[in-house]
Amino acid sequence: MDSLLPPLSQWQGLALVVGSGGIGMALLRALAQRAPGLELVATSRRPPPTAGLQRWVPLDVTCDESLENLSRELAQGPPLRLVINTVGLLHGPDLQPEKRLAQLRRSALERSFAVNAFGPVLLAQALEGVLPRQSPFQFASLSARVGSIGDNGLGGWYSYRAAKAAQNQLLRTLALEWRRRFPQACVSLLHPGTTATALSQPFQATVPTTQLFSAGRAAGHLLDVLEGLGPEQSGGFWAWDGQRIPW
Ligand SMILES: NC(=O)c1ccc[n+]([C@@H]2O[C@H](COP(=O)([O-])OP(=O)(O)OC[C@H]3O[C@@H](n4cnc5c(N)ncnc54)[C@H](OP(=O)(O)O)[C@@H]3O)[C@@H](O)[C@H]2O)c1
Repeated sequence: MDSLLPPLSQWQGLALVVGSGGIGMALLRALAQRAPGLELVATSRRPPPTAGLQRWVPLDVTCDESLENLSRELAQGPPLRLVINTVGLLHGPDLQPEKRLAQLRRSALERSFAVNAFGPVLLAQALEGVLPRQSPFQFASLSARVGSIGDNGLGGWYSYRAAKAAQNQLLRTLALEWRRRFPQACVSLLHPGTTATALSQPFQATVPTTQLFSAGRAAGHLLDVLEGLGPEQSGGFWAWDGQRIPW
């Protein structure tokens, strides 16, 4: 990683945190403390449960009109310096991660891919027209170690694993395109570590407490990783501790 990169405390411009779940909200709080030069914009499907946000835009990443609205909202104002997509879906009403093939459902595959794979790259497409060509910016999206094909020694969770792996391929491909068109861009896929949020809640019992991060701690790790990434590292898949994860 490049030690000549400016620290977060010197970043200027707009920071867009997409998704206001456990890690998204913690990232907003951490950015407010560590990057005072950034104007923060949050998105969520419903208004987030906090006052004091500088800006909030409603967004459902599975809805094209919603993505177009976000693009319009960001067309005015300072240039984007940072986008962090924290939207993700592991379980919900009528959706549970599969333990075996017999539990796989077409509807679950489609829902997981819509949010975890198509959402991030369509977000990038919606924002492309408002990205700066002459100044550095980061486009980061939360992936998951279980999306690594090379690291898959456990099996299970077909839909989520496959959708995260598809996200990784889509954003790796994006990084290669943007390397030519936005030479100062850095696209990254980040694994936050197992973090105590609604997404991991049903599965936390089997996780040793030392390996379960608070959302605040996870956010701090993710910003540390992002601070050390520049255009030369664009297209990487990184864990919370800055280690590369195999595809
Ligand atoms: N927590 C972990 O242990 C862990 C581990 C590895 C990777 N990750 C990844 O980290 C990211 C953040 O997860 P988290 O732990 O913060 O989970 P979380 O608290 O459940 O947050 C996920 C957010 O995604 C939003 N979302 C879901 N579908 C959406 C859609 N169609 N449009 C817009 N927003 C949508 C949810 O919004 P609503 O509140 O409106 O439902 C929620 O705010 C996810 O990508 C997850 O896969 C988490």
